[in-house]
Amino acid sequence: MKIDILTLFPEMFSALEHSIIGRAMDNNILSVNYVNIRDFSQDKHNRVDDYPFGGGPGMVMKPGPIDRALESVKGEDARVVYLTPKGKVFNHSMAKELAQEDHLVLICGHYEGIDNRIIENYVDDMISIGDYVLTGGEIASMVLVDSIGRLVPGVLPKEESYMEESHYGGILEYPQYTRPREYNGLSVPDILLSGNHKKIDQWRHYQALKNTYITRPDLLESYKLTKEDKIILNKIKDELSKEK
Ligand code: ADE
Repeated sequence: MKIDILTLFPEMFSALEHSIIGRAMDNNILSVNYVNIRDFSQDKHNRVDDYPFGGGPGMVMKPGPIDRALESVKGEDARVVYLTPKGKVFNHSMAKELAQEDHLVLICGHYEGIDNRIIENYVDDMISIGDYVLTGGEIASMVLVDSIGRLVPGVLPKEESYMEESHYGGILEYPQYTRPREYNGLSVPDILLSGNHKKIDQWRHYQALKNTYITRPDLLESYKLTKEDKIILNKIKDELSKEK
């Protein structure tokens, strides 16, 4: 997958050079290219922003530099994403969908955002990483590259490793433990040491439903609950009401 990132601060993206995404870039499974929007300013002072028409606070990123930066990378096939708090809130199913693309172009805004004509003419998706406002789209872009990149085949060492995790199946993941068996007086649940894989799977599914019910009950509304799940959930509710 090829990702072009249009930004005023390419140096911020050094965070991506590490760990799994860095390795995928070294191995050419992911190719991430940074385009400095300022390089496309034709202003003698290299300005990329201006006052908003109609008045109001702050500055708006001018259309020309972004337009020319886009033209330098876009091609026919690219899916153009603008990171903005005004966008659709990002989630795992959007990451999965975007991971199917061969070429993504991410536009990072700053100040009061970008001239709307860029959105009208070029942008396929407006994405927010959450209901809060960042100082710019760079950190949001890195969130997308990390979460989409790891779903690209060949990026994770074993593709199965994301099958079970939180959100992949629509609910949160079960708790994980590793050695030592006893730590600061706390022990690993016996079932995980039993070697009985069927029982372990049942325990994990129960815990996953319980975590989801407690922390993100909204996820259960779109999760396909089986008959057994409904019984388990009633048990969880019972158990929790007794704990109160
Ligand atoms: N730019 C500023 N805030 C943002 C957010 N929450 N998501 C994506 N891009 C942003």
